[in-house]
Amino acid sequence: MTRPNPGLLHYLKMVVVSEANFRRSKGDTMSRRAIAIALICFSTAALAQSPVTKDNRIAIQVSPGERNQMLFEMREFLHSLFNMHNALAGKDMKAVAVSTRPMTGLLRRLPADNKARLPEEFTQMALGMDELLTVLARDAETKADMSLTQSQMAELMTYCSGCHDTYRFEIKAR
Ligand code: HEC
Repeated sequence: MTRPNPGLLHYLKMVVVSEANFRRSKGDTMSRRAIAIALICFSTAALAQSPVTKDNRIAIQVSPGERNQMLFEMREFLHSLFNMHNALAGKDMKAVAVSTRPMTGLLRRLPADNKARLPEEFTQMALGMDELLTVLARDAETKADMSLTQSQMAELMTYCSGCHDTYRFEIKAR
């Protein structure tokens, strides 16, 4: 009954594979994030059904202003991803780092009462993504290894889709 759907399993496999690649190339400890995401995938009975007929994502209650701010931040993420890809294609690793850094600190930019109402797992995913962004920017500058950056960007996408698969915003009734 609480078994995750095939999409989630596929996603989880991607996380594990990208973790393994990352560890192989880096020797860094990234398993905390994989575990946090795995927990979300397996503990969330609400996500176990097909999304075709029903939106099974967990609703986070927000005010219209909070929703606007969060979605603005999200659209900025897309702009940054464009800049990162562009910099990487131009083999400009310094520009990769410069494009990545504005993506960090999502939680710091949110008002305190909004932050306090976010589910713990949401916060953990945002923090995990932040950690990865910091490592990605630092490695781009100090190692200039394009293939490493690419695998880190793939891992980054697992945070985007992991959180999107799990949560949605809902304007709270007042
Ligand atoms: C910690 C959770 C989380 C992470 C990580 C995250 N998002 Fe989101 N994002 C959300 C939620 C929640 C929504 C709103 C979904 C809804 O209400 O249907 C959203 C919406 C969006 C939207 C729609 C914006 C709009 O104006 O409607 C875009 C684009 C987006 N995210 C991009 C990204 C990208 C790119 C990344 C990764 C670099 C990312 N997000 C990472 C939680 C997250």
